[in-house]
Amino acid sequence: MEKIIEEEKQGQSLILDQQEGNTRKLFIESYGCQMNFSDSEIVASILAKEGFNTTQHLEEADLVLVNTCSIRDKAEQTVRKRLEKYNAVKKINPSMKVGVLGCMAERLKNKFLEEEKIVDLVVGPDAYKDLPNLLSEVEEGRNAINVILSKEETYGDVSPVRLNSNGVTAFVSITRGCDNMCTFCVVPFTRGRERSRDPQSILEEINDLWSKGFKEVTLLGQNVDSYLWYGGGLKKDFEKASDIQKATATNFAKLLELCAQAHPKMRFRFSTSNPQDMTMDVIETMAKFNNICNYIHLPVQSGSNQILKAMNRQHTREEYFELIDNIKRLIPDCAISQDMIAGFPTETEADHQDTLSLMEHVKYDFGFMFAYSERPGTLAERKMEDDIPEDTKKRRLNEIIQLQQKHSLYRTQQHLGKVEEVLIEKASKKSDVHWSGRNSQNTVVVFPKENYKVGDFVNVKITDCTSATLIGKAVGYSENN
Ligand code: SAH
Ligand code: F3S
Repeated sequence: MEKIIEEEKQGQSLILDQQEGNTRKLFIESYGCQMNFSDSEIVASILAKEGFNTTQHLEEADLVLVNTCSIRDKAEQTVRKRLEKYNAVKKINPSMKVGVLGCMAERLKNKFLEEEKIVDLVVGPDAYKDLPNLLSEVEEGRNAINVILSKEETYGDVSPVRLNSNGVTAFVSITRGCDNMCTFCVVPFTRGRERSRDPQSILEEINDLWSKGFKEVTLLGQNVDSYLWYGGGLKKDFEKASDIQKATATNFAKLLELCAQAHPKMRFRFSTSNPQDMTMDVIETMAKFNNICNYIHLPVQSGSNQILKAMNRQHTREEYFELIDNIKRLIPDCAISQDMIAGFPTETEADHQDTLSLMEHVKYDFGFMFAYSERPGTLAERKMEDDIPEDTKKRRLNEIIQLQQKHSLYRTQQHLGKVEEVLIEKASKKSDVHWSGRNSQNTVVVFPKENYKVGDFVNVKITDCTSATLIGKAVGYSENN
């Protein structure tokens, strides 16, 4: 299925606009979530000031950085394999330095330097501003490490360099860390406590993108609906804030409104929503503004109340249905996608059937589905036995994927015959004479290029579909153009 995340396929070397006078060469690649890709743009920006331009050729790099993911064991194995590759290149180019960034750096800390002799530098997600100092240590022949997590750092003052950009769509991070403590998840340990970024700096970044011709922004966070700015600091310390801070705080609905109003011709998306934190005012704001896309990524993980409880998800199956019903009532054509985990400890066949029946009720537009992978240090690892046999996990996962594929096709078929606004992003991968873009629901739409260009908002009549792609023909510019 095309939309399942496969960590192996996500690694991508990135190029930035080359800055004149910079002579050192940085090869940076990212694995895992969008936040990592976005963080790499922050890192490239910090290192551009240290004289680095990026390169796509590993062989010519002075510095190789890999931004890593710990979410599943497979993701970590992928990075280990990349380190082997770097090792081979380092034999030819011994002065090349190698650094590990992101969640694996945070999780493994010093162990990385012990286990992987090739690694010179280990930097956690909140320590990127320390990179210039750490690099000087490395240049003096010492290993360097900073994995301190922060209460404040949001990189709000770093203007990211857009890497590998189509010039049309961009990610803007609005929160860092997560306080939810889902029992299977390593993110709260690797990315620290949740903190929000100053709305002013978010708006400034968006203004800058708009002035450079960008047409769509996705607001990023582990749990965007939990966004809360009250002058800085951790979300969990909000109770201690002053009355004035509380009265003037900005929540996620308000932030969405600020963005949508500031740029009525720009599209806004956001990811990810945790069902327990999504409020009616967010849904109402989405319904109110045409330029907030009708799409919500709303991971549920399981359809069984027992499993949801064991996962420490703060809602029941019934409450989730209520939320879905509210979304569909206020935004009838809203697309919804899921994340699902098959084979969480203690999951019975009946629990699994609950997941399938929940999916049958929602009929998600698409989904990201995974077999449970035990992560060291999580509550599930400490308190529960990973007791579902691998082949059972795989079989259940396959059943979930099969059902999702059926629903994806059902959903794409609902677009047939309609005329939908599409933002053109790039040439279609499969055909030089077709454009590829997305409609408001985040479904990919492919249509003949004619005289349109990247960045145009076009009305497209949908004539055909697969389970992942809509195929159509442009009928003119949309009024947003
Ligand atoms: N809120 C986050 C979730 C991050 S993890 C976000 O912004 O997307 C992404 C997905 O990975 C989760 O929703 C979950 O479905 C999956 N996942 C997390 N930990 C996992 C584990 N230990 N095993 C299998 N899948 C996991
Ligand atoms: Fe992980 Fe749950 Fe947060 S999945 S990122 S702990 S919302």
